[in-house]
Amino acid sequence: MQNHDEYQNTARIYDFLFSRPLKRIHETIRTCLNHNKAKNVIDLCCGTGKQLRVLADQDMMLTGVDMSQAMLNEARKKSPSLIHYLETDARNTKLPAAQYDGVIISFALHEKNAAQHESIFKEACRLVHPQGHILIADYCIPPEEMPSQLLSTVGFQSIERLAGINHYHCYKDWMGSDAVEGFLARNNPGKLSLVSEYYMGCIKLLSVSGIPQQPIPEEVL
Ligand SMILES: C[S@@+](CC[C@H](N)C(=O)[O-])C[C@H]1O[C@@H](n2cnc3c(N)ncnc32)[C@H](O)[C@@H]1O
Repeated sequence: MQNHDEYQNTARIYDFLFSRPLKRIHETIRTCLNHNKAKNVIDLCCGTGKQLRVLADQDMMLTGVDMSQAMLNEARKKSPSLIHYLETDARNTKLPAAQYDGVIISFALHEKNAAQHESIFKEACRLVHPQGHILIADYCIPPEEMPSQLLSTVGFQSIERLAGINHYHCYKDWMGSDAVEGFLARNNPGKLSLVSEYYMGCIKLLSVSGIPQQPIPEEVL
C-alpha cells in the first residue's frame, strides 16, 4: 500500500506561503556554503526545492531528497535540470557516505517524532564529509521577552496546528524538549555554532562541523 503523502494538499501552495518568509534563511545558507567553499550539497527533506534553486547559480552539485511525491513534483517543475532530486526516505538515502561538504536540514526535524528526527540527523552525519558542515534551520527556545513568546506560542504554534494533528503533536514535543538546542545537545557529535537567528529569536540557523568519521558497516567492506 502507498504511504499517505502528508504534503499532497499543501505542495502546490507551499512556495506561495513560505518562499518570502524563508528568503533570509535561504540567503544565509547560500552565504554560509560559499564561505565554506561547499561544492557538493545535499538538502535532506528539501520539499519544493526552493533552497536548492537559491543555490542553482553557485557552481555547486545539488541534490534534494524528499519522500513526498507532491513536493518533489513541484520541485522538479520549478528547478533547472542541474538539480538532482531523489524521492526517498531521508533516514536512509543509500547514498555513499562522507561525500557532501554541505548538508541542509531545514524545517524538517520539528514535525517528526524523536526517533525519526534522530535518524534523519544520523543520516546527515553519515553523508557529510569530515571537513563539511550540516546546516540546520528550525524552531528554537524563544527568548523570554513578550513579543518573542507571543510569536512562538500564538504565531508559529497556529501554523503548526494548521499543518495537521500529528504534525502539531510532534511540534509540541519538539518545543517541550528544548527545540533545536535540546535536540543538538542530546545528539550532536560535532562542533556546534550559531549562524543566525530569525523572527525575534524564535528560529535559529545552526552549523554542525567536525563530525567524527562513521565506521563503515561490515557489509560494505
Ligand atoms: C516543512 S517541509 C520543509 C521543506 C523545506 N526543507 C523548507 O525548508 O521549506 C518538510 C519536508 O520534509 C519532508 N520529509 C519529512 N520526513 C521525511 C523523511 N523521512 N524523508 C524525506 N523527506 C521527509 C516532507 O515531505 C516535507 O517536504
